Amino acid sequence: MSKLWEKLVRPVMFRLDAERAHDLGMTALRSGMAMTFGLGGAPAPEVLSAFGTIERFGLTFENPIGLAAGFDKNGKAVSQFSDLGFGFVEVGTVTYEPQTGNPKPRLFRLPEQNALVNRLGFNNEGAVAMARRLKELGRIRCVVGVNIGRNKDVRNEDAVENYLKTSDLVCPYADYVAVNVSSPNTPGLRELQRSENLDELLNAIQTRNVQQLPLLLKIAPDLNENEIEEIVDICLRNDIAGIIATNTTISREGIAAHDVVRIGAGGLSGKPLEARSTEVVSTIYRYSKGKLPIIGVGGIFDAEDAFRKIAAGASLIQAYTGFIYSGPAFARDINIGLAAKLREQGFSSLDEAVGSAVRP
Ligand code: FNR
Repeated sequence: MSKLWEKLVRPVMFRLDAERAHDLGMTALRSGMAMTFGLGGAPAPEVLSAFGTIERFGLTFENPIGLAAGFDKNGKAVSQFSDLGFGFVEVGTVTYEPQTGNPKPRLFRLPEQNALVNRLGFNNEGAVAMARRLKELGRIRCVVGVNIGRNKDVRNEDAVENYLKTSDLVCPYADYVAVNVSSPNTPGLRELQRSENLDELLNAIQTRNVQQLPLLLKIAPDLNENEIEEIVDICLRNDIAGIIATNTTISREGIAAHDVVRIGAGGLSGKPLEARSTEVVSTIYRYSKGKLPIIGVGGIFDAEDAFRKIAAGASLIQAYTGFIYSGPAFARDINIGLAAKLREQGFSSLDEAVGSAVRP
């Protein structure tokens, strides 16, 4: 972690309301401020050579660390995140209609636990605005995924239509699309993870997917092993390119009772989620026999955490909360540390390390 960030910038930012700090951070990033201070940056050739070629679902990734959905909800700073050293950026969640999300305050820090709780509720400018922005972006170095969700005021019975209208608009400008059925902050959304609902939804989106864009599914950590296995079967049946595991949790394990009461409802992310999300990654990897690419996300703060997800079966990784706590040098530091870790463990590429902790 950069000293400038840790000693100077973060203490100031953390004194502000969490959502205000996020908005300020986005403004600073878009103005190019992080790059001016020399924070972050594209990985050096010797780092990239430790990874080898990273080909996933027909796309080539320069490096395996991505920015998780929810940070750049409207696709406003994709090229800046790429410049900071992220190998891919998942924008969104975007919904068909713009929506304001839940009343504020709706984002909370838990610094002692290296965690966040949010109940933003898909505040975003809508699919038309997202499509326009991505079109203007043109070609950039990193891979761009678009995470799509359902509008709050649309019933699950009408969810398929709502998702299709969004995917129609954003697909032409996305490298992959992530179908989000796992946010805890849109009432009823996670019921779309149930077999009948999920099969229908994925089948409909895939049928409309004439571009044959890679479609991924983002799941919750609050599923049991049976449910995860059923989801894997449905994904394989519907030619889903991969699973993103996991979204935030509704569990409050490890959080002090007074904080639980003070903060209220929402999804918990960061360190308290790490072990559970890694467990979900390894369950998917084992059950699918490594056939379904997994993007591992949840509580990654450093290269050790990143390596654990990869060894559990993730072939790409993402982070959100770790980036908030570590600052703009986050992706660069993970890339450097992960390359060193792979070499130290005797792996000649990232692919060799994927699932190494769970393979028989
Ligand atoms: C998120 N996350 C999220 N996920 C998603 O699919 N769509 C979204 O809009 C959001 N929004 C969002 C907002 C905030 C404030 C947070 C902290 C998280 C979930 C995120 O992408 C990730 O899956 C989890 O946060 C777990 O990873 P970390 O944060 O522990 O690295």
